[in-house]
Amino acid sequence: MSKKSQKFEGDPNTTGHSWDGIEEFDNPMPRWWLWSLYACIIWGIAYTIAYPAWPMINSATAGILGWSSRGAVTEEIAAVDEGNAAINTRLVEVPLDAIPANADLDTYAVSAGGAVFRTWCAQCHGSGAAGAKGYPNLLDDDWLWGGDIEAIYTTIAHGIRNEDDEDARYSEMPAFGRDEILEPEQLDQVVNYVMSLSGTPRDAGKLAAGAEVFADNCAACHGDDGTGDREQGAPNLADAIWLYGGDYDSLLDTVTYSRYGVMPAWNTRLTEAQIRAVAVYVHQLGGGE
Ligand code: HEC
Ligand code: HEC
Repeated sequence: MSKKSQKFEGDPNTTGHSWDGIEEFDNPMPRWWLWSLYACIIWGIAYTIAYPAWPMINSATAGILGWSSRGAVTEEIAAVDEGNAAINTRLVEVPLDAIPANADLDTYAVSAGGAVFRTWCAQCHGSGAAGAKGYPNLLDDDWLWGGDIEAIYTTIAHGIRNEDDEDARYSEMPAFGRDEILEPEQLDQVVNYVMSLSGTPRDAGKLAAGAEVFADNCAACHGDDGTGDREQGAPNLADAIWLYGGDYDSLLDTVTYSRYGVMPAWNTRLTEAQIRAVAVYVHQLGGGE
């Protein structure tokens, strides 16, 4: 049922399609629009020839200009490295303990070291270096292995208890419970004694026996008074700062199973200048000696 066409003078032709008497004018696309479309197509084709574009099986077409985002980053990094080459050489040449006294070097090392820290260390030690259970706080002056700049440097360069570096620091606290070196009763006594060094034991009646167990089994590493020994990475047990927790259950776990804290060696991943920079950075955080 088609209705009569309502065409007026001057209207363009229709396409001939008609729906319930509604007809479609046959207007050409505006010139400017068409030319923009063609320009975009040409630009698009040229772009995919010049730059990496079409996905292939293993990679994408490389583009005749040879540009890549990875290459651009590498170039930027190379430019920064080149800019810092002179100061990095100085950083590596001066004795470590002379760096903090040298204002230029110190400022550079602290900012470069801060960047290294945020990239490589923060996931374990926390972005503010305050640590977490099992990961030491690097802000305080409670050090397992020593807080002067040489000691910090050695810890970072070689790591702790890792198999990849012969010079890694090596802590060897025995697993007194698991390996049946101590009886459960003795474990209970010595844990109470350790609690008493910095606070209140759970059972004060066990302190005398605990002190004896401590003297026989623990003092060799943690010292007669429990204040620790940095040669062996044995922490101070008398300062109420705990790496693995100071409540009865955590302490019992520590003494029963030992903890075997591991830190990677960084001398294979970072340059000498980066290790020195991050050592300076850690040293100036607050606990440096
Ligand atoms: C995979 C986790 C991890 C990463 C990453 C890591 N650490 Fe450690 N770090 C540890 C652990 C665990 C210890 C303690 C080991 C132990 O119990 O003796 C430690 C110990 C240290 C110590 C010794 C603290 C003391 O009291 O003597 C320093 C210094 C240190 N880390 C600095 C760094 C720096 C700098 C980086 C980055 C370049 C870094 N760490 C990256 C896990 C890590
Ligand atoms: C061979 C040396 C050695 C002996 C012996 C030893 N320790 Fe340790 N102890 C360590 C080391 C090293 C650590 C640090 C372990 C780590 O971080 O992986 C440690 C850690 C600890 C901690 C954890 C401290 C914290 O901050 O969380 C406690 C508690 C502790 N020892 C108690 C004892 C007691 C109690 C004994 C005796 C029954 C003992 N240790 C015997 C070397 C020793």
